[in-house]
Amino acid sequence: MLDQTRGFCVLASAEELIDSPTALAGYAASFQAADDATLLIYAPDRESQEIFPALERGLAAAGVAADATGPDMLLLATPRTPAMEAEIAQRASAVYAQQDVGGAFTALPRFAPADVARLRAAFDARHAPQPPQPPAPRRPMTERDHRQAVKDRSFAGQLDFVHTERCRMLPNRNELLHRIPHHGVAAEIGAASGDYTGEILRRNNPRELHLVDAWSTERYQSGLGQIEESFAADIASSRLRIHQGMSTDVLPTFEDAFFDWVYVDTDHSYDTTWAELRICDAKVKRDGRIAGHDFCTGNVVTPVPYGVVEAVTRFCVEYAWEFEYLTLDSDGHFSFCLKRL
Ligand SMILES: C[S@@+](CC[C@H](N)C(=O)[O-])C[C@H]1O[C@@H](n2cnc3c(N)ncnc32)[C@H](O)[C@@H]1O
Repeated sequence: MLDQTRGFCVLASAEELIDSPTALAGYAASFQAADDATLLIYAPDRESQEIFPALERGLAAAGVAADATGPDMLLLATPRTPAMEAEIAQRASAVYAQQDVGGAFTALPRFAPADVARLRAAFDARHAPQPPQPPAPRRPMTERDHRQAVKDRSFAGQLDFVHTERCRMLPNRNELLHRIPHHGVAAEIGAASGDYTGEILRRNNPRELHLVDAWSTERYQSGLGQIEESFAADIASSRLRIHQGMSTDVLPTFEDAFFDWVYVDTDHSYDTTWAELRICDAKVKRDGRIAGHDFCTGNVVTPVPYGVVEAVTRFCVEYAWEFEYLTLDSDGHFSFCLKRL
């Protein structure tokens, strides 16, 4: 059934839409029949014969055509199972709902009915014309080809003035710690052996600092022990809290709107950074900040392409965040700090 949805699949609850014809009307005013988008109307544990008449009444009340002249819609009345919800979460591009839907859908960007214009903007950004892709290489991938392929499949859209015009430059990332809110609840995602952790504690004085890190690779695994030794007093007082695991597993376990700010500094790949930013969108307070390291194109010592610039650009465009600070560290490994538009 899910294979009948179009390229941009928007998940909504049947019950919420039935109760709120204005939400349906708002969606239908923003998405037309010709758009490559489907409103997936989810009715878990309900029978379609039972829910369909109520939905038809809701559509009529909202003045939405339930035929081919209206936006593409698909009713999914099905038993609620983890496997089904995982499949929906994989298929969906966004959630259209007043409240957080939780569960398998936590990592999806959510747009309340009042934000339907942002939902449309996210759709438009995804469907903006992309530059032509280079032909696939005909020979086995060399390391250079690999790096080129990584760059080619990153986001190619552009920021707008609205994302940058209020941004201020800072000389380095330590200065950033003086500027972002003090005494808050913060996270360093990717802490290694705690070099920046010490700066955060000294310069920003958060009341709680959560460190999220896998500490699983040969290069970094000794970092946890070093942190436990260097910051024993802060750990004992629970001011510093350790969470060992992959960022995309650990971050969803925090309550929504938990952090005043987060600083993302893990593997710098496009996919990881994009996933982390999307999760942080839910986990950071309404007036919170998402900051991070290595806002640059890669590491030139061992050539590794980073995807931070592309992921952050896409995030600002699709989730409506703007740059607040950009740091111009002399080693070329810049930091960014974003807040909501
Ligand atoms: C560049 S280091 C962090 C440096 C630290 N922020 C500093 O400035 O001192 C990257 C860290 O991220 C961790 N890491 C990499 N990928 C990760 C992931 N997907 N989830 C959690 N930790 C990750 C590594 O174990 C490593 O400790």
